[in-house]
Amino acid sequence: MKKLLNWLDDRTGYREVVNDALYESIPGGARWRYVWGSTLVFTFFLQVITGIFLWTAYAPSTQTAWESVYYIQNEMTLGWLVRGIHHFAAQAMVVLLVIHLLQVIIDGAYKAPREVNFWLGIVLMGIVLGLSLTGYLLPWDQKGYYATKVATNIMGVTPAVGTEVQQIVQGGSDYGHHTLTRFFALHAGILPGLLIAFLGLHIAVFRRHGIHAKDPSHAPEGMFWPDQILKDAVACLAVLATVLLLSIYKGAELSAPADPSTPYDAARPEWYFLFLFRFLKFEFIDKFGLAFGAIYIPGALMLFLVMMPIVAIWRFGHQLNVAVTMILTACIVGLTGLALYEDWYSDSEASVKFRNDVAAAHHDAARVRELAQGPAGIPSSGAVSLLRNDPLTQGPKIFAARCASCHRFNGHDGTGHIVMVEGEEAPATAADLGGFGSRQWVEDILVNYQEVFAPTRNTTKEGTNLGELFLDDEYNMAGWVKEHKETLLMPENQEALNGLIEFLVAQSGREDFAPYDEALVAKGRDVFENGTLAKGEFSSNCLDCHDVKVRGEEEALGFPGTAPVLTGYAGREWLKSFISNPATEQHYGYGDKNAMPAFEDSLPERELDLLVRWMLNDYYVSAEKSSHSEDSDHQSSTDESETEDP
Ligand code: HEC
Ligand code: HEC
Repeated sequence: MKKLLNWLDDRTGYREVVNDALYESIPGGARWRYVWGSTLVFTFFLQVITGIFLWTAYAPSTQTAWESVYYIQNEMTLGWLVRGIHHFAAQAMVVLLVIHLLQVIIDGAYKAPREVNFWLGIVLMGIVLGLSLTGYLLPWDQKGYYATKVATNIMGVTPAVGTEVQQIVQGGSDYGHHTLTRFFALHAGILPGLLIAFLGLHIAVFRRHGIHAKDPSHAPEGMFWPDQILKDAVACLAVLATVLLLSIYKGAELSAPADPSTPYDAARPEWYFLFLFRFLKFEFIDKFGLAFGAIYIPGALMLFLVMMPIVAIWRFGHQLNVAVTMILTACIVGLTGLALYEDWYSDSEASVKFRNDVAAAHHDAARVRELAQGPAGIPSSGAVSLLRNDPLTQGPKIFAARCASCHRFNGHDGTGHIVMVEGEEAPATAADLGGFGSRQWVEDILVNYQEVFAPTRNTTKEGTNLGELFLDDEYNMAGWVKEHKETLLMPENQEALNGLIEFLVAQSGREDFAPYDEALVAKGRDVFENGTLAKGEFSSNCLDCHDVKVRGEEEALGFPGTAPVLTGYAGREWLKSFISNPATEQHYGYGDKNAMPAFEDSLPERELDLLVRWMLNDYYVSAEKSSHSEDSDHQSSTDESETEDP
């Protein structure tokens, strides 16, 4: 063995190198405060290793980036862990960097003859921040997409060269596919290469001057090996443990696939850029322009940082540097705290909206995962179309935008929000469509008509209260229900009532209500046509007013009268036809009662279809979700990896 090592040393001279590296003396002895540089090198290696693993599965393009990260996160063996480590070690690096910088400044380790190394350190800091910025975009999710867009827009306001810089970084005048490929080249190639080069220089120059000790006279000299190495190793393990804990218990977030057509108002930069983000929101920044806040001020501060070693030449220069650094740090911490407070704890309108947007984004992220894991998987058009074509995602939004000005959905606007007008809850003017077409809905029409249509009292049609037209007229449904409610609710007639309900619901052909009780359906049909009751009788039968073509039959039972035709009632085609134009003969066209606008010209077929399928529960839900659904409104997800707190 010894012979072999001798041979190797003879050829390479490795012993000298190792000796130099290990037996470096440390004036004043090993100290905990010297560990930061080593932890930084350690996290960097962690990043390189996990980064290479991620690289083996990552595919940088707008069609595949999110999909491949989804694969890493959910399907690749231990992919979630590798990604988690990469995600949190990146953040640890920024924290360690700041601590390292503060330690160097406070200890005066930037002073002559170490100026050059200090400057190298600043370059390294810039590279690390560049790595964070570029890495944030790579998953191509809503969060990274919109946050990074803000950053590239800021580059665009740089005086003189802004547009050019922005174009170079973006890869053209548009933010999109080439931004992603460029960021990936920067993130996995150029920046790490530069980092290694500058790190080499930094460490070489550092070795040349040795550790700067504030007070070498008192403590005895120590050795790098083993004294300092031991402390460094403990510190690195602590960093690793923190990163692992975060990866396991919090996990790296993957929001919904980036969709340029769906703005993401909850976009925020990574938390360590929040102070700048918050700073730019101050009103006086508006006055001086974005370039002032985003370029000149940070530029001036960077210049100050660079000048520190020179300032330190003067008497009290070092004290000045330390004082300014402390004030700056306090400002940054303060601004970060303020930004977090405003986003997560304040009751202002903007904050509430932000939190709603975050909740909606989590909801989308959970939903897209559910769909991707569903039987159809991710289509070749990319995961972004999963949400775009998902009734459960789009339906509520369309309802909130088009229908919630009059209707409600289980009391809210479809997306879970109360409908507000000028700060007050707005009254509904049409029925709550939450359970539209269900057995309960039909039962309510037959025995609680007044309640279902009560909201019509809150509006007028051509000067007449709509409620009067709907609820107070003797010769319409309300009048019929008023007259027969008691008869229908007699215990003897329970089967007749249930039959009517089953018969009507069966006309919709909805699969989510199947199977239908055929005996009941037949019973109900008899009641509908002939008014057959166990006790009492109808003054007029359903069929006297309502025509219907029973599902699966060619001939209609009766003739169109002065009431809505119930063919296919509350089913897919019926609903589409109703929304397209509620004023036709077969719907509310028999009188002048209709107060609902026709949507055939303003609602595209695609949106109509998504809306209707949502209202009819016609969308994929995983078995696990559907077993405890019902509360499937907002924020019902409990998956730990998608909750994101400051
Ligand atoms: C301007 C108010 C208004 C808007 C907007 C509106 N509706 Fe209506 N809707 C009504 C009124 C009033 C009725 C009661 C029947 C009528 O007047 O035609 C009604 C009836 C209905 C019905 C039949 C059930 C019932 O209550 O009789 C359905 C289903 C319906 N609307 C769905 C929708 C959908 C879906 C949208 C959005 C695309 C929508 N409505 C938009 C006012 C509105
Ligand atoms: C006197 C005529 C008349 C009779 C009898 C009658 N209805 Fe109606 N029904 C109406 C009218 C008119 C409407 C439309 C709402 C309005 O103008 O009051 C209506 C509405 C409805 C609706 C809601 C339709 C929609 O588009 O939202 C259903 C469902 C319904 N009736 C079922 C029945 C059933 C079932 C029976 C028999 C048990 C029945 N109706 C008996 C006149 C009648």
